[in-house]
Amino acid sequence: MDVQGLIRAAYAATLHARAPYSGFKVGAALLCADGTVYTGVNVESSSYGLTICAERVAMFKALSEGRDKFQAIAIICANRTWCPPCGACRQVLWDWGRDLDVILAKDENDYQLMKLSALLPHAFDNGYLIHD
Ligand code: THU
Repeated sequence: MDVQGLIRAAYAATLHARAPYSGFKVGAALLCADGTVYTGVNVESSSYGLTICAERVAMFKALSEGRDKFQAIAIICANRTWCPPCGACRQVLWDWGRDLDVILAKDENDYQLMKLSALLPHAFDNGYLIHD
């Protein structure tokens, strides 16, 4: 995996973040098992609660174009502070990406790599929906 390339893609995406209310511009780059990369940015709403994070945008873009296996996601903030994924994003990433690698980056040489299971232990998922 080209971790630095993925971080660069996430950072480049922050240019398109729509964060007029928080000013906190986030970019994500999701690496699919077939090598394709989908980027996402946060898109804020005037009603605040309808805001969507960069990670979910990247995942929904990939799912909506038929990707279904994922390897890693890089997340970076334009202001170079750490941006761990919010709880909602952790759940969605687990639902569709299972235990992918999460790369939290300040820049391409300053990052932390962890498994999603470390960020979301004892996760709920579709396994709990199956009854006999
Ligand atoms: N944000 C993300 O895009 N990803 C996260 O995991 C944390 C938060 C965005 C949402 C909102 O637009 C801004 O950062 C401030 O919370």
